[in-house]
Amino acid sequence: MDFELKTLSRPRTASERCDALIVLVPAAALTQNDRLTGLIGQAIKARHFEPEPGKLLQAYKSPGLQATRLILAGVGGASARQVRAALQAAMGALKGSAAQKVIVSLSWLPAETVDMAACVQAAVAACADAAYTYSHTKSKPTPSAPQRLVLGVGAQGSLRKAFDTALATAHGVDLAREWGNRPPNHATPTLLARAARQLARSKRVRVEVLGPREVARLGMGSFMAVARGSEEPLRFIVLRYNGAPRSQAPLVLVGKGITFDTGGISIKPAPEMDEMKFDMCGAASVLGVFRTLAELQPALNVVGLIPACENMPDGRALKPGDVVRSMSGQTIEILNTDAEGRLILCDALTYAERFKPRAVVDIATLTGACVIALGSVRSGMFSSDDALAQALSRAGEEALDPCWRMPLDDDYAEGLKTHFADVANVAGRAAGSVTAAKFLQRFATRYPWAHLDIAGTAWKGGAAKGATGRPVGLLVRYLLAQAESPGAGVSPRRRKA
Ligand code: BES
Ligand code: MN
Ligand code: ZN
Repeated sequence: MDFELKTLSRPRTASERCDALIVLVPAAALTQNDRLTGLIGQAIKARHFEPEPGKLLQAYKSPGLQATRLILAGVGGASARQVRAALQAAMGALKGSAAQKVIVSLSWLPAETVDMAACVQAAVAACADAAYTYSHTKSKPTPSAPQRLVLGVGAQGSLRKAFDTALATAHGVDLAREWGNRPPNHATPTLLARAARQLARSKRVRVEVLGPREVARLGMGSFMAVARGSEEPLRFIVLRYNGAPRSQAPLVLVGKGITFDTGGISIKPAPEMDEMKFDMCGAASVLGVFRTLAELQPALNVVGLIPACENMPDGRALKPGDVVRSMSGQTIEILNTDAEGRLILCDALTYAERFKPRAVVDIATLTGACVIALGSVRSGMFSSDDALAQALSRAGEEALDPCWRMPLDDDYAEGLKTHFADVANVAGRAAGSVTAAKFLQRFATRYPWAHLDIAGTAWKGGAAKGATGRPVGLLVRYLLAQAESPGAGVSPRRRKA
């Protein structure tokens, strides 16, 4: 879909030709006496319309309007969240319609009292979200979504920057959704690497792809152990975005890229196992972030690391009781082959050391326990660094892609002790998302580190089954904040280390 930001006063809005005009209507009293404003006022007064998020009033070919279809969408106090809810409802009402050109007008919002930049960002995100359709493996064309979306504002001022950022972020979210959604036989480690190579066509983006031989040479025994049970060769993808001088330490993102998780020998039950194609959504979010970086070209250095493989049962697959040696030298007893995410991430975390990073954030659909703890509202966030944790929390709130900090007390690591290796890959059932994070923390000792468990937020199940593109919004917001104030977002104590 094509997005455009356009200055449209209220009277101009009424005279713009389009298939559908969506007017965001705040609860605050409307002044000005143009025709459309008058009508909206009447509808509210007569209680045909309530300007609250989710409430709509629709009309067809209204006199004095050039739009074929008019949708009034209430936004209440016009917070970013309310704008999103309003547009989810309005775009939902347009679903399956023939509307090609849609205008979304923010010109009725009280620009003096609301955060217009936040409203623009929420509007772009919500419309892009509604316009995405999956089609890669459909034999017939999918029902058409709007082709052109014009965002009308009273005055542009500094909104251009917010709009450009939001649009680039939406492109990253789209890419993450697309790769998350692709079926496991259409999104193998090899194909993920190809997607990464495509990104490297952009200015300042480079990619290097390691195969089984290179990974063996690096001593990534833990990652290799997970890939053993699959016919698909593993890939270790290294993406680099260089927007700042070489001397500036990079931020490193590590994305879990299990392209299908059967559980391995500790095999998962059949119901909903198909959803384990989404087990590479962490990897997809890293690809999405790089898409956005390529478009925005911010002044910072970012490294993306993606260990990618399948987790399959097989005659050669790893077994419960096996002990493997990780790249860090630590030995690991595999007690459950379904706890494979941490086994591929630990070697990537060790690999990350070579970049002497400013911070490392890993992103993983790591534990069912995190879904139990936080549901699909907030991602789980774990961090050894308070400033990094704060920066991620803030980014999540601002991007409407929130996370929640979880604990890392050493007492949680008790259950990972074993007689047969340095550490076991699982503890008991209690606090499963925390013990997983405690496992990872052993491999992330040389830099400020955070871990995002996106098991509950990366995709939706049921009738609306599909990838969400989270947490691309959070990560982009975090990275852009770092570009603006390098050094912030990491505790001073750690900065020199
Ligand atoms: N990919 C899963 C986590 C998962 C499960 C995400 C269900 C979303 C929904 C991960 O590899 C896994 O299987 N984790 C196990 C860990 C357990 C064996 C300690 C889990 O959560 O059950
Ligand atoms: Mn698993
Ligand atoms: Zn998994």
